[in-house]
Amino acid sequence: MKRVAILSWPLGGNTRLVADKLIRQFTFYNEEDIKAEKLDFLSVSEGKLRPFDVIIIGGSTVETEDNWLKADETTKWSTFFDIIRFADLTGKKAAVFAIGNQKAYPDNFADGMSELKTVLEQKGAKIIGHWPTDDYDFFDSRSIEGEKFIGLVIDQENQPELTDRRIIDWVDQLVVEIGN
Ligand SMILES: Cc1cc2nc3c(=O)[nH]c(=O)nc-3n(C[C@H](O)[C@H](O)[C@H](O)COP(=O)(O)O)c2cc1C
Repeated sequence: MKRVAILSWPLGGNTRLVADKLIRQFTFYNEEDIKAEKLDFLSVSEGKLRPFDVIIIGGSTVETEDNWLKADETTKWSTFFDIIRFADLTGKKAAVFAIGNQKAYPDNFADGMSELKTVLEQKGAKIIGHWPTDDYDFFDSRSIEGEKFIGLVIDQENQPELTDRRIIDWVDQLVVEIGN
């Protein structure tokens, strides 16, 4: 059985909505094959990540520099990066997701997850879950490699009607890629 950890920040808002939907979507697969669990972002440690085969991490892009690199009351990403710096993720697979707003931030759409991917890869994880950019309308994003996003992108403010379909399709894709 493959164990999947899902971690996200912030703990509320659209990020929580998406994280909860992801967890729920995994329950439609056979638990003997694959099981997803939500890990508490605030108390995560190397030891807690160790038993998992796959780590999925995401969050909302809220002004990249502040959100990802500054540790204060509004963001815990720096703390998380400090923890992950000591983790060995060799042999694990990892996927990232971002919540963004393509109309309000067309030049930085879903930028945040690029930092996450970099850190996960540096620690030895293999990134899965690349996602097509079709059906989004924006100008630029740091989260694109080649023709694709490096992970799932959800725009709950402009395209809420596409969220459920995107999550179903992404989890379907992940399940295949986890099995490979
Ligand atoms: C101050 C601020 C800055 C933001 N910056 C970006 C950005 O750079 N790129 C982007 O795609 N979305 C950006 N957003 C949009 C958020 O990612 C979007 O509102 C998201 O749904 C918030 O999710 P949350 O409720 O989980 O925080 C920003 C929102 C705020 C309030």
